[in-house]
Amino acid sequence: MLTIHARQGAVVQEKADLLIMLHAKGAALVSNALLQKIDTQLTGSLTALMKQDGFIGKTGEAVLYPCLGKIPAGKVLVVGVGDKEKLDVDACRKLGAQLAKRAKSLKAKTVVLAWPEISIEGKTARDLASAVTEGMVLGSYVFHEYKGRLHEAYQKDGHEVERVTITVSDRTTIKAIERGVEEARILADATMLARTLVNTPPNHLLPADMVKVAEQIASESKRISLTILDEEKMKELGMNAALAVGRGSYNGSKGAHLIYRPVGKPKKRIALVGKAVTFDSGGLSIKPADGMMTMKCDMAGAAAVLGVFQALTKLDVSVEVHGIFLAVENMPSGNAYRPGDVVKAMDGTTIEVLNTDAEGRVTLADALSYANTFKPDAMVDLATLTGACVVALGEDVSALMTDDDRLRDRLLTAAKDTGEPLWPLPLYAPYQELIKSKVADIKNIGGGRAGGAITAGLFLQHFVGKTPWAHLDIAGPAFVEKETRPDIPVGGSGYGVRLLLKYLQGI
Ligand code: BES
Ligand code: ZN
Ligand code: ZN
Repeated sequence: MLTIHARQGAVVQEKADLLIMLHAKGAALVSNALLQKIDTQLTGSLTALMKQDGFIGKTGEAVLYPCLGKIPAGKVLVVGVGDKEKLDVDACRKLGAQLAKRAKSLKAKTVVLAWPEISIEGKTARDLASAVTEGMVLGSYVFHEYKGRLHEAYQKDGHEVERVTITVSDRTTIKAIERGVEEARILADATMLARTLVNTPPNHLLPADMVKVAEQIASESKRISLTILDEEKMKELGMNAALAVGRGSYNGSKGAHLIYRPVGKPKKRIALVGKAVTFDSGGLSIKPADGMMTMKCDMAGAAAVLGVFQALTKLDVSVEVHGIFLAVENMPSGNAYRPGDVVKAMDGTTIEVLNTDAEGRVTLADALSYANTFKPDAMVDLATLTGACVVALGEDVSALMTDDDRLRDRLLTAAKDTGEPLWPLPLYAPYQELIKSKVADIKNIGGGRAGGAITAGLFLQHFVGKTPWAHLDIAGPAFVEKETRPDIPVGGSGYGVRLLLKYLQGI
C-alpha cells in the first residue's frame, strides 16, 4: 500500500528511486531555486538536458535524468505543471495522480516530491498538499481482488509505488502540509472503500454483505452505533415498499442505520440516505442485456454513505450524522413484485408500481420515511436513480435537486472544492401531475421518458415532508466506463464521499 508523508529536509540529500521536481510553464530555470540546488549537484547537466529537450513546463511535459550516483536519488524527474495562473486545487489533484502514475511506470518504489514554492490565491499550503496527496492516492487505486491464476504473471512484474515523501524546505509550512497530507489520506481511503464496494461483483456483495461493512465500520469507532434492519424489523416498521423490491430475490433484504455522535454537543443532525440495490436486473420489467452489465453499481449511493462513516471519527466531524440504507437485490422470479402491484410505504403512502425497474425510488420511499422519523435538520440522499439523469447531464455530472437554498449552496460549494461535478435540476412542481396514480396515491414512473430525473426526484420529495432535503442523482459519475481524469480509474468512482464529508465539515 502507498504511504505518503511530509517532512522538512533538504532535497539534495534525499535517497529515493525517484526525485520529482515541478516547474511552471515559461518560468525561467534560474527562478526555480529547488531545481537550481539539484542542478548544481549535477554540475549543470540537468538544466542542460532540459534545454536540449526543449522543456518549457507544459502540463504533462517531463524530463527524466538518471543521476548515476551523483546524488543519493536514483533518477530526477522534472514535471511541467503548465501556466501558474491556471493552477487550481483540482489541477493539483490531477497532477498528483499523474505523478503517481509516472512513478509507477518508472518502477520507482520510493519517491521524493520536492514541495515547490507555489501559491494559489485563496488557498493554503494545506489545501494544495491535500489535493496533491488525494490525487496520488486516488490515482494509484487498483482493484485486483478478483484477479486469479492468470494474474500471477502480471503480478511478477507489477510495480507499485510504496512510499512518497513530500520534502518541504520551508520550516514554517511543514505543519500545514503534514495536516493536508493526513486529511487527504483519510478522504482518499474513504473514497476507495466506496470504489471497492461498487467494484465488488454482485455475487460477492449481497444485501447482507453491505450490512457487514456497516458492522465493521461501527466496530472500529466508539462514536458510531448501528441498528440492523433485518426483514423482520423492516416488516415491523412497515417498510413494505422496500421489501416488495427485494422479494423477487433469493437473497434477503437487509438495512442499516448508523449513527455517528461527535464528542461535544452536536451542531446539527444530518441524515444521509443511500440507494443500495446490490444488483438491478430491472426485475420483471427486465433490462436488456447491455443495460444490466454495470448494474452492480446500483448500490453506489450506500457505498458513499459507508465511505463517509469510515472517515467521520478520524476527521472529528462535529455534527451528528445518521447513515441509512435498505439493501435489496432487484430480481425477476415467481415471487417478484409485478407491474400493477400497489404497495404501502412506511409513511402510509400507497405506491402503484408500473415499472419494476424504477425500483430505487420505491426502496428510498421507505428509507427516507425512516430517516425522517429521527427529525434531522437536513437530509441528503444519493442514488444511481435514473438513466434519464445521464441523458440530461452526461456521465461526469450528478444532478442536485432541492428546494432548500442553503442546502443547495452548501452542497454546490462542497462539490466545487472536491472537484465532483454537481449541477442543479429543478423539482418542478407541475410535473407532480405525472406521478399521480389512478389507483394509488402515487406511481413509480412519470409520463414517459421526458424529465425522468425530475419525476424521480419529485417522487422522493413526497416522502421527506418538511425536512430540508437534497437529492443527488449520481447515475452518471458513480461508475466510470471510460477514464476522463487520472485520479478516477475505470469502475466505481467513489463519487460523493469527499463531497459529503466536505459538506459535513462546513456545517
Ligand atoms: N439503476 C437504474 C438507473 C441507472 C441507469 C443507474 C444507468 C446507473 C446507470 C434505475 O433503477 C433504473 O433502471 N431506472 C429506470 C427508470 C425508468 C424505468 C422509469 C431508467 O432510468 O431507465
Ligand atoms: Zn432499475
Ligand atoms: Zn436501479
